[in-house]
Amino acid sequence: MSSLPTGTPWVVLKFGGTSVSQRHRWDTIGRLASKRIEGGDTRVLVVVSALSGVTNELTAIADGAADAAVRVDALVARHRAFAADLGLDADAVLGTHLSTLQGLLADPRAATRPLDWQADVLAHGELLSSSLGAAYLQTQGVDIGWCDARDWLDAIELPNQSAWGRRLSVSCKREADDAWRTRFAAQPTPVLITQGFIARHGDGGTAILGRGGSDTSAALFGGLLRASGVEIWTDVPGMFSANPRDVPDARLLTRLDYAEAQEISTTGAKVLHPRSLGPCRVSGVPMAILDTERPDLPGTRIDGEASTVPGVKAISRRNGIVLVSMETVGMWQSVGFMADIFERFKRHGLSVDLIGSAETNVTVSLDPSDNLVSTDVLARLSEDLSQICRVKVIAPCAAITLVGRGMRSLLHKLSDVWATFGKERVHLISQSSNDLNLTFVIDEADADGLLPQLHAELIASGAMPVDDGAVFGPSWKEIQFGKPARVVKWWEDATERQRLLALASRGTPRYVYHLQTVRERARALNAVGAIDRRFFAIKANSHPWILRTLEAEGFGLECVSIGEIEHVFATLPGLDPSRVLFTPSFAPRREYDGAFERGVNVTLDNVEALRNWPETFRGRDLWLRIDLGRGDGHHAKVVTGGAASKFGLPIAAVDDFVAAARTVGVRITGIHAHLGSGIGHPKHWREVYAELAGVADGIGTVDSIDIGGGLTIPYKPDDQPFDLALWAEGLAEIKAAWPRYRLAIEPGRFMVAECGVLLTHVTQVVGKQGVRRVGLDAGMNALMRPAMYDAFHAVRNLTRFDDADDAAFDIVGPICESSDVLGIDRLLPVGTAEGDVVLVSDAGAYGFVMANTYNLRDLPQEDVLE
Ligand code: LLP
Repeated sequence: MSSLPTGTPWVVLKFGGTSVSQRHRWDTIGRLASKRIEGGDTRVLVVVSALSGVTNELTAIADGAADAAVRVDALVARHRAFAADLGLDADAVLGTHLSTLQGLLADPRAATRPLDWQADVLAHGELLSSSLGAAYLQTQGVDIGWCDARDWLDAIELPNQSAWGRRLSVSCKREADDAWRTRFAAQPTPVLITQGFIARHGDGGTAILGRGGSDTSAALFGGLLRASGVEIWTDVPGMFSANPRDVPDARLLTRLDYAEAQEISTTGAKVLHPRSLGPCRVSGVPMAILDTERPDLPGTRIDGEASTVPGVKAISRRNGIVLVSMETVGMWQSVGFMADIFERFKRHGLSVDLIGSAETNVTVSLDPSDNLVSTDVLARLSEDLSQICRVKVIAPCAAITLVGRGMRSLLHKLSDVWATFGKERVHLISQSSNDLNLTFVIDEADADGLLPQLHAELIASGAMPVDDGAVFGPSWKEIQFGKPARVVKWWEDATERQRLLALASRGTPRYVYHLQTVRERARALNAVGAIDRRFFAIKANSHPWILRTLEAEGFGLECVSIGEIEHVFATLPGLDPSRVLFTPSFAPRREYDGAFERGVNVTLDNVEALRNWPETFRGRDLWLRIDLGRGDGHHAKVVTGGAASKFGLPIAAVDDFVAAARTVGVRITGIHAHLGSGIGHPKHWREVYAELAGVADGIGTVDSIDIGGGLTIPYKPDDQPFDLALWAEGLAEIKAAWPRYRLAIEPGRFMVAECGVLLTHVTQVVGKQGVRRVGLDAGMNALMRPAMYDAFHAVRNLTRFDDADDAAFDIVGPICESSDVLGIDRLLPVGTAEGDVVLVSDAGAYGFVMANTYNLRDLPQEDVLE
């Protein structure tokens, strides 16, 4: 084996605690290492952590735990048992290390626990695991040798480093000469195994690398050996665009540059310690994070090539942030104020993370992961600082950070993100000077639930370019549960497409509604047992055949204007008025009078109307629409709850309303809330029901609770259908808690969005300065949603349906407005040309009803398909 050429490149594979604690994982390690050396042109260095949990035990022992002897015995027993499990002779393989560990307790140093003794204790986790691994892999036929990391990694001393840091959190030499490399390569086996976490101290003893130590060891070896790569094998698939525990839709980041990876690991992701990137970064060695259980996943690759896509790569949250706000009028233009305050932070051993400054205020954050932020330290710091300024400590805070290259050029895409933060109390905003991060510090309590929303907003706005397959891999949810089946649309069927093409030839723009799809949606909701009353919100689509179809399925109809009410009765002359619900907003008085005359249910959402128009309401039954103080929806413009919304009576005003109702003999028989449109999380409605039931209990005369509409549909190809089963389950549970109320819903979009398509013809295809545009004869006049809400509607070329969608176009309409864009960067067949029929999908809700004649263009036509 000594015949191995010394120039053979190395690859470093690092395995963490969970990857070395089970036999089948060692088999994986053996397989991975053997595969690398197969061609004889690569050598492998395996770096391992201690078995899981062992370092914690050793730390307790090193810290002087009273039951140290018991803990050592348990560790000995555990390693012996694992050796037996691996079919090894524990005495032969581990005997020396185990007796040294036991001997350390009898060592005279154990009484005072000096740092060098602690290091000796701590080193045993890796010494044991690597010895077990080497012996086991040898029995499995791997040509592997063991080496002591302390013979190869040298600790160095840094200025300002404490004695503790110089022994138990050391940095190591990052350069090696050729002699070092030649010596290393002279070890006889093609595979070597060594320990993470430990190095040689300048005094010849053991030094410990501290947190993230094994990753750092691997990176150091990678750099020193000028390895072709360092692979960190762990128990997660890699780095994600957010913590998957908070955001199941978080995407695997398959490629990052060192700076981005550094930023992501510093601001949240636990998978790689930020310290471990440095050694690879300085020597340009590529790194990868890979999953031991799922070695076929792409993992995260990190190298020096700056990524080509600017954009937000990740969003993270750090808790436990302490803000120190320092206020003084004296600071303005005074020389040395900053120096004075930072000197005090230094004195208390606190490192500052974020800084915000104004004329009379400086606010800084302390990150608990770098600091020992105890109340004592803060009290001493405050006292010290109060000699030169007024001090306020704000805690606990959360820092929410967006990471990605070119943050400044993205600001225009972050409007929704700013708007979301606008609803919270933001204490500090900080943009890093390397243009890689933007951080918002808010109260910890306010940060709950924010990450999924922000993540979705970053994707929707295009700030997080998830369509870039070179950087964004599958979502965590997809990795966990497999790729969801794509929703197949009714118009993908060949016969339906022929019918659509025939209709398009009669002229476009033209909406076509597929009534069978409407029925299917109605039946799906009819099957939800907890619901007693169903109203279709006809504002979504008031086509007579849609109304007839839904009425026949047992749906009532919800109207927002007297015009809609008249339309309903004109379409369905015999309809029982009790199946109609009137939910107007700021309607004139005569519409309420008209509605009562018709005998329909009427909803009111303010006390002023009751007081100003007593004759309209006297002696009537009314439903009360409530604002629960918050809203939701696919876009800020469709949120209908919360202080900024014009809809609903605030909970705090309910008593007033009830009193005013009593004076005019009004009976409140229904309670209603509709907090927004296009809501994807099924929990929303059960919460609304619970809150409304509480209100209803207090009123006493209520028999119906209407939890509104708002159910979303899958607009994007990767969107999942609304989880009706989970929704139904939540409603059943909550209904069981308050069974005496009749539960009503009033969905619009869910019933009709997918039944409708907008057929258009291509007018022109134009290339301009690198952007190819397909022009349609329908724009924001025919379908307002993309211009108004940045809404996504899939487009397909029906004429060339079987051609590959292989060219990117922006899809635009014929209206003289820059916002007349139906889609950006959409794939259509490269041959798309004038006269082709293009279908705009999922346009059945809020399509025709919002169309207009702007630019004096005709309204679209409408057809139904049976
Ligand atoms: N109930 C009330 C009181 C409503 O205001 C609405 C919709 C609904 C029910 C039905 O909500 P749905 O289930 O369709 O989400 N033009 C926007 C949607 C505006 C919704 C207005 N109110 C869009 O195209 O997304």
